Amino acid sequence: MYAVAISDVVYCIHADIRTTDLFEGIWSIKDGVSLNSYVVKGEKIALVDLVKDWSEAPSQLAEALTSIGMDFASIDYLILNHIEPDHTGWLKEFRALNPHCEILCTDKGCKLIKSFYKIEAGVRVVKDGDTLDLGNGQTLAFIEAPNVHWPETMVTWHEASGTLFSCDAFGSFGALGERVFDDAFTSEERAFFERETLRYYANIVSSFSLFVEKAIQKARRLAIKCVAPSHGIVWRKNPQKIIDLYATYASYAKGPAEKEIAIVWGSMYGNTKAGLDAVIRGIEAEGVSYAIHRAPDEDFSYVLADAWKSSALVIAMPTYEYAMFPPMAHIIDLFKRKHLFGKTVLRIGSFGWIGGAKKEYEAAIEPLKWNNLESYEWPGFPSQEDIIALEERGKELARSVRET
Ligand code: FEO
Repeated sequence: MYAVAISDVVYCIHADIRTTDLFEGIWSIKDGVSLNSYVVKGEKIALVDLVKDWSEAPSQLAEALTSIGMDFASIDYLILNHIEPDHTGWLKEFRALNPHCEILCTDKGCKLIKSFYKIEAGVRVVKDGDTLDLGNGQTLAFIEAPNVHWPETMVTWHEASGTLFSCDAFGSFGALGERVFDDAFTSEERAFFERETLRYYANIVSSFSLFVEKAIQKARRLAIKCVAPSHGIVWRKNPQKIIDLYATYASYAKGPAEKEIAIVWGSMYGNTKAGLDAVIRGIEAEGVSYAIHRAPDEDFSYVLADAWKSSALVIAMPTYEYAMFPPMAHIIDLFKRKHLFGKTVLRIGSFGWIGGAKKEYEAAIEPLKWNNLESYEWPGFPSQEDIIALEERGKELARSVRET
């Protein structure tokens, strides 16, 4: 891996993580993820963000540093925008290689470094608006961005090059390979990263959309020429693109979102699926687009992404042991944790001898304040009367999306 120059004194060095591990132990990264760090050279040298020892990330960074005539011992300041271990897991080993490097982070970050790594010496707390003079006219400024997505988070601003080291904000899943800049990828590749940005947002950041909006307001005051996040593409040609994408995704927390429907369903023996097919016919008759995901078969990180961007949901599940079908209960719980507010929702499902999903479901979604269409349940296989009613429910939901 080579270092890539953002300016004559700023370089991106990144490690591509390709693994069967899950990100944060939860989220699929089947197309990888990049851990981006940045070097800023004045008389002194700063490294912005680190890596964890994962998929040979430290070796990848070392190789990139070598390509610009440096090594880890060359670094005078390590700026840690965020202490989550994907960016700090290798900190003790880095410290052993370079005991004289000063670490800069927020006050909350300092406490986390102590608790995660038992490191206290050589850590400098910086506050919102503080600066670090590297010499030769190179200055870094620190801007607190709490809760994007951890409370200790800050971003770092290099005014001379107009580069915002934005940490997780404006990041995405997806390994980069040898290219890092937005203008180095084809439109198809950029479309891939746009999908992976949405999935990253829905999986990692969505619960904190209010704080994302506050961070974006701060970012809009800067004359940004390059957005340099800690994951994914470095945006130098069109930095506004990724800022606007994040602003759009944050706005979905309040609804409405895109004029689409996300259908999430589980079925034990096909009876709920038979009813769902009727709902889908109704949606199709109204010409509204939809994405469909089956639980538990499909990766819920993708389910969450489609649900986040859709204005409406269909939740289809049978009653299971007097309660919600367990894989769907898990997805509803995720929707709650990720603050999937502002949706118009139709719930349907079959039951055997008695219902029960309805009661548990209604209690579970209460905090989400969804606009709920009248739900529809039926015993066993749907009758012709049920089919007609379900088609009509599908049409009603689709019309509500179209007219929002
Ligand atoms: Fe990429 Fe929140 O760490």
